[in-house]
Amino acid sequence: MSQTWMIISGKGGVGKSMITSALGVALARRNMSCCCVDMDIGLRNLDMLLGMQNKVVYDVLDVAHKDCKLKYALITHAVHSSLSLLPAAQLGDVNQMDADDMQRIVKKLKKRVGYVLLDAPAGIGRGVENMLPSVDHAILVVTPDDVSIRDAERVIARLEEAGIGRPLLIVNRVIPEMIADGEMYSPQTVAALLDVPLLGYVPDDRAVLAAINRHESFMEQSGSAKDAMERIAQRFLGEFVAMPSFDPPKRGLFSRLRKKNKKKPSTLE
Ligand SMILES: Nc1ncnc2c1ncn2[C@@H]1O[C@H](COP(=O)(O)OP(=O)(O)OP(=O)(O)O)[C@@H](O)[C@H]1O
Ligand SMILES: [Mg+2]
Repeated sequence: MSQTWMIISGKGGVGKSMITSALGVALARRNMSCCCVDMDIGLRNLDMLLGMQNKVVYDVLDVAHKDCKLKYALITHAVHSSLSLLPAAQLGDVNQMDADDMQRIVKKLKKRVGYVLLDAPAGIGRGVENMLPSVDHAILVVTPDDVSIRDAERVIARLEEAGIGRPLLIVNRVIPEMIADGEMYSPQTVAALLDVPLLGYVPDDRAVLAAINRHESFMEQSGSAKDAMERIAQRFLGEFVAMPSFDPPKRGLFSRLRKKNKKKPSTLE
């Protein structure tokens, strides 16, 4: 049976669109039919992350307003034929569609593909509220910092209130060296703080930005973020893939500074 997943975060800019596009590619590679829907109305970018920007003609608002049929707005990926994209409108805003429009579109998409991946706008505004009645499950994207974690707590509460239940967690932009130095939360710590199951983590990888600037998906090149997203897709599909755990930090946040000071005593002492 088809499933609709919402990729959501509290704080903006944490990697929802990057993860939606990568999960779409990884699922398509495993012969799963999948549609990525860009729901960031007015701020279209999923087309670019998938390298499909030259093919956009119609968008989700055109479909919502019945200016075009869904099949004409859907774009098929050039390499992965089981992956399609429903682009966001570049102009216009979220108030131009409602929860009923969304439900109608998602119902039609579910007849065409196995996985509908909805890339949500940041936070829990009108855009997300419109989506909630259409959603079966959610993936929460968090970066390992207190601001992102605090904002995620509100999202979790809203998802539970809406009857979607607790989301699966992806911790993005992880820097293992910082975790080892006690300067960053490990993905397992973030999951424990939020009390949600950990689907995986994605390292901070310069290949992601480089690929965006080339207008292509980082999933087409090798790299640590790509490998992590492949493992996440496997777990998403129910396979067991071990998750490297990080050693508990040996040092506190500022101990390196203290250590430095010990090693090199000031000449005034
Ligand atoms: N794992 C990563 N490694 C390096 N850079 C990353 C990684 N994940 C995301 N980024 C960078 O972060 C930026 C924001 O990512 P993205 O657009 O996916 O976030 P978002 O949560 O969808 O943002 P918004 O809330 O505005 O929709 C991207 O431009 C990308 O360069
Ligand atoms: Mg986005």
